Amino acid sequence: MPESSHPKQFPRPITQGLTFDRVSFQYPHEERVAIRDFTLTIKPCEHVAFVGANGAGKTTLVKLLCRFYDPTGGRITIDGTDIRDYPIADLRGAVSGIFQDFVKFQLSAKDNIALGVRASDVDLATVTQAAKQAGVHEAIERLPKGYESLLGKLFDGGHELSIGEWQKVALARAILRDSQILILDEPTSAMDAKAEAELIERFHELAQGRIAILISHRLSTVKMADRIFVVDRGQIIEQGTHDDLMRQQGLYATLFLTQAQHYQ
Ligand SMILES: Nc1ncnc2c1ncn2[C@@H]1O[C@H](COP(=O)(O)OP(=O)(O)O)[C@@H](O)[C@H]1O
Ligand SMILES: [Mg+2]
Repeated sequence: MPESSHPKQFPRPITQGLTFDRVSFQYPHEERVAIRDFTLTIKPCEHVAFVGANGAGKTTLVKLLCRFYDPTGGRITIDGTDIRDYPIADLRGAVSGIFQDFVKFQLSAKDNIALGVRASDVDLATVTQAAKQAGVHEAIERLPKGYESLLGKLFDGGHELSIGEWQKVALARAILRDSQILILDEPTSAMDAKAEAELIERFHELAQGRIAILISHRLSTVKMADRIFVVDRGQIIEQGTHDDLMRQQGLYATLFLTQAQHYQ
């Protein structure tokens, strides 16, 4: 991605919010448009959720926000400035994502959590604090060498964690980076319902005072969001709180009731 030749200072705190301003996007060499004319403002400290079918474009929106790609039309702004005008490192430092295909770093538990933070800024107490907040401290303490234990099965002597524990490690990493924007992108595919509910609850708690974007196709997990956006083929087709959307009796309400049947 090209760096701006006259980069602006990234705001801290963000005071006006994050805006997708008529954003369109087409992946290189793809005929289909992934995002079309997408407009949305997220206020500081607001927690929003994107829901919608597989392939609707939810993850693409996040990739654009992180500048893994630039929009082919429109722009994304933070506090009114195009994100292309901020230093890329500052932008990416401000955004912490826990992604669907998150990486299992074959490192010690401590290094897994501290990754992405300047080494001089991290001591064990800070790492432990983040692990506690993410709810994975006990699991790490149970390992033979505690925070020095090697995670993953790639190397001899490594310890495999459960999917839920790996995701909490990723959450701890996000906490430690102290980013202003937190993203949780469908982290829960392999988790049981109880672990999922716990992770989402922690996510909301830890994201207090920050912008949070929660992405899921399971509607039971997004009820807590301030606003929910139903994305379909790269566009917003419904929006509101859970109660608003249920009253609208549109796609969200239909999907919610269909999914709820599976739980009864
Ligand atoms: N790296 C890529 N290259 C080409 N097309 C992609 C790529 N990633 C996603 N797509 C396409 O973009 C559309 C939106 O995908 P995505 O944002 O991953 O949807 P969601 O996260 O809602 O499931 C889909 O049609 C998908 O096939
Ligand atoms: Mg996705």
